[in-house]
Amino acid sequence: MELLILENECKKHLYCDLLKESILYDSKYDFDANIEATKHYNNANLNNKTIIYAENILPCTGCVSCWFRTPGKCILNDKANSYASNLTKYDKVTIVSELKFGTFSFPIKRLIDRCVGYLGTFMDIVGDDIRHEKRYEHSFSLDIIFYGQVKDKEMQIAKEQVKAMCKNYYIKDYKIEFLNIKNQVNKHFVVNKNSELDEMNYINFIYNNFFLNDYNNIKEYLSISRNFLANTFDNDPICIQEKTLIINASPRANNAVSKFYAKYLKDKIKNSNLINWSFDKCISVEEIIELLGYKSIIFCYGLYVDNMPSNLLENINRINAFINSCIYINSSQKNNEELISYLKSKNIYAVANNGLKHGKENELSLLSMELFSNNSNLNWVMGLGIGAGPLYANSKENIFDKDYALPVKEALNTLQKAICSYNIKENYNNIYTDGYIELNEYKEMLNKIWKIQLSKSINNTKK
Ligand SMILES: Cc1cc2nc3c(=O)[nH]c(=O)nc-3n(C[C@H](O)[C@H](O)[C@H](O)COP(=O)(O)O)c2cc1C
Repeated sequence: MELLILENECKKHLYCDLLKESILYDSKYDFDANIEATKHYNNANLNNKTIIYAENILPCTGCVSCWFRTPGKCILNDKANSYASNLTKYDKVTIVSELKFGTFSFPIKRLIDRCVGYLGTFMDIVGDDIRHEKRYEHSFSLDIIFYGQVKDKEMQIAKEQVKAMCKNYYIKDYKIEFLNIKNQVNKHFVVNKNSELDEMNYINFIYNNFFLNDYNNIKEYLSISRNFLANTFDNDPICIQEKTLIINASPRANNAVSKFYAKYLKDKIKNSNLINWSFDKCISVEEIIELLGYKSIIFCYGLYVDNMPSNLLENINRINAFINSCIYINSSQKNNEELISYLKSKNIYAVANNGLKHGKENELSLLSMELFSNNSNLNWVMGLGIGAGPLYANSKENIFDKDYALPVKEALNTLQKAICSYNIKENYNNIYTDGYIELNEYKEMLNKIWKIQLSKSINNTKK
């Protein structure tokens, strides 16, 4: 049986629809040669193919119930709650995803994150790290088709991303294809300010080209953007407050390990604010504008299936769309250069932590953050990847007094220095730290915790 996972049912891209048809009907796709050709199919056999759309799926909340409370099943009540166990019905899975920041689109990432229950609860040692065991005696082959504006760097990161995900999910047999779609935005749109029809066309053009599909009121969006360009930014081009915004972007909000690292930085950085981004509310345009008022922005998050969690991916997509649509809207204005240097004066940092021992696991997510920053004309500075992140955060004592926690403490202090005394001439590099515990000990420790949690939830179900 084959499973085809697509982003959404409505046509975001004509290409995407054609791609779906060609996969379903085993016809060959050759978009540039002849779009119509893909529509002629014979002997269609859909019996062994199932399609699911990655729409109306809630983001993973990081509650890990699928590993202990309801093993293999997600507790969120929507169509994706049994996707993890349903994967066992298929021997081939094809995913079509837009390529954004070297990784999956956020709707596809939502689905991927919601499938972690496919992995077993307990940990094992595989190679030089621990891993979740397999839950099922099952495997599938995976085809990934990335479409979008495919640049070399994006492509390289995406290849590593798929490789890492396949290692995580015990997938041996996989294939990646890239489908480059030309950028429409370069075609300049001429607007006659006096014509209402042209204004509507202009709005539609912005709507379609910046993929703002989920903004209900595009006219309002445009008016807020114009207001930002005319007032917030233009009246105060040096509004660069010497202020730092620390975002706990984990969907686990107050229970997040990220909150611990965010709080550590907050206590060390004068003039800083700490906010939580919840999993169920994405960032509004007003909040994006507020965020851009800060000099430094630090994203703190946990690693979810080898990249950032889907709620964060969605928010950085929104920030990116807002910025690029503003640059476009402002492109005929004299002050567009100023807008770009205003954006470039915003320093971006990230603190990623992960469950496995090695901090390097976070590398792809930091590269995605860097691509997001570059693509948004923001200034990427550096990131931290903290291996075995929960070990430090969940300690009952002040772990940073202990020698073995010194590398993490030093890494956080280096980041703090890079924020407080940023120097454009200096070269900043990402820092990775590994958990201090020996592998076998770490595995035993986690398995003991999982065992207690599992038996607690079994006892609760019995009551
Ligand atoms: C859905 C999900 C996927 C995860 N995937 C990974 C992973 O690929 N690699 C890893 O090392 N840890 C993984 N983890 C563990 C988290 O990175 C770890 O628990 C981290 O501390 C979570 O940070 P937070 O509490 O700030 O969200 C995953 C956790 C969840 C809930």
